Amino acid sequence: MSFKKIVLAILSIAILFLISCGERQNLRYFKGAIATVHPLATETGMDILARGGNAIDCAVAVGFTLAVVYPQAGNIGGGGFAIIYINDSSYVTTLDFREKAPIFAKQDMYLDTAGNIIENASLLGHMAVAVPGTVAGLLEMYRRFGTLPLEDLIDPAIKLADSGFAVYEILEQELEASRDQLAQFETTRAIFFKNGEPLRKGERLVQTDLAETLKRIRKYGRSGFYGGRTAALFEASSLEAGGIITQTDLREYMPVWRAPIVFDFHNLRVFSMGPPSSGGILLAQIFNMMEDFDLSSGDPYNPLFVHLFTAACKRAYADRAEYLGDIDFVDIPVQELISQGYARNRIADFDPTQATPSNMIDAGHAWRESESTTHFSIVDQYGNAVGITYTINASFGAKVIVDSLGFFLNNEMDDFVAKPGEPNLYGLVGGEANKIEPQKRPLSSMSPTLVFRGDSLLMVTGSPGGSKIITTVALSILRYFQFDMSLAHAVNQPKYHHQHLPDILYYEIGALEKSEASKLEEMGYTLKEISAYGNLNVVARKSPEKRWEAESDRRRRGKAATVY
Ligand code: DON
Repeated sequence: MSFKKIVLAILSIAILFLISCGERQNLRYFKGAIATVHPLATETGMDILARGGNAIDCAVAVGFTLAVVYPQAGNIGGGGFAIIYINDSSYVTTLDFREKAPIFAKQDMYLDTAGNIIENASLLGHMAVAVPGTVAGLLEMYRRFGTLPLEDLIDPAIKLADSGFAVYEILEQELEASRDQLAQFETTRAIFFKNGEPLRKGERLVQTDLAETLKRIRKYGRSGFYGGRTAALFEASSLEAGGIITQTDLREYMPVWRAPIVFDFHNLRVFSMGPPSSGGILLAQIFNMMEDFDLSSGDPYNPLFVHLFTAACKRAYADRAEYLGDIDFVDIPVQELISQGYARNRIADFDPTQATPSNMIDAGHAWRESESTTHFSIVDQYGNAVGITYTINASFGAKVIVDSLGFFLNNEMDDFVAKPGEPNLYGLVGGEANKIEPQKRPLSSMSPTLVFRGDSLLMVTGSPGGSKIITTVALSILRYFQFDMSLAHAVNQPKYHHQHLPDILYYEIGALEKSEASKLEEMGYTLKEISAYGNLNVVARKSPEKRWEAESDRRRRGKAATVY
């Protein structure tokens, strides 16, 4: 070996040693990683992590902050799901704080006397509202796992509501897109309009009523929202406008701890949300159906892979319409649906050369894209993790602000089946299992998800996107692990989606090259190019020795950060 080669070898070893020291040093000072849809929410969360708060403290603070700075989806007037990993006890659990139908809800409440759907009834104003669960959910996860004083976790939100912040471009666009519907409600105009026009970029959004509502939560906890002045004003506002939510609905609302859905895919173990979300079961079905196939092409845009993924999605979404609903109301054959044997049977008629039309796929035997849901992912220095997806359904929910309370109400009732066979806002159809019943939770697609290899947590993922949430989450996992993409690519590269009905393979602009699209058309697919959807906020690492990375869909200008 020449002298030069020896020197080079020594230098390389020295550099590798320094890099590995750097990694260890970094790990020693690591305080957490976070990705959310809004920089102010991420900064609130970073501060909590830097002060030694755990992932749950951080999630509670972020949840309340987004209710202020991201009113199109961040909320206290909606509901959602949390997936939580507690490192000390290697314990994964989920919290269901999905909204519930009011006690006075009826199966046909959105139909006219001829049995037709009344336009917008399940989408706009007080009749569309389900009993909110977010405040109960955030407080329950804090009660069980929080460590910092609750005031410290709500104060940042109160400050931002009281002192206001500058309207940012995406909020301006969203207000503009919904202006006619928002303008129908005086309480909404009073806060989000100025001189008859929606607020513009740079104008200050001050939310004094919301700050007061948050202060009551800070002071009285759960009953600061589900009782007292807030509940009284909520009921009065609802009944006056023809709604049906009463103080009893609010008082009786309870979040529920539920076991996660768990499945394996090659050497990964995935934990996700069970019913009343359809996310975990559908992810399990989609991955199980793909498990026996050769995915070694290394390319998620290869038409053969798109074809297989789509075939699995079609079958899983067909089952969704037939079987899934609120597990407290309907029997769901969960274990069978997520079993490997069931998946094998389901995909047995897969033809690698031809698309099977959706009308030939029944259930097995056993848009408009808007910024209306949001997901955030957090890991802390102690190894705990939280993923939360929460929503008011459509952008700004039912568009109505509760008088004197300052927050938007959800229109989650639209996630029920108003009439069998009629598509909802996301084109989803369904039947009996998801019909409206008093105090039942509407079926959701929200899928906060954790991915492990062995005992090591490697990813917290989730996204908005209505029915497209499930395929978005599936692709984030496949692209990062199966196709070994960087986190930036796994999160930001264009996606595709199929939900059985309508029988259309949707793809984001740029997802498929002309040749790839033609190949799929030859196989029998109807393709439709659509604008960007979803908004992945993910923290992940490729292996336990690697540093955590965080990534927030760059098209939506959120913020992802690691904290040291
Ligand atoms: O729970 C659900 O599945 C829907 N309400 C989620 C809505 C949604 O993701 C809208 N986002 N773009």
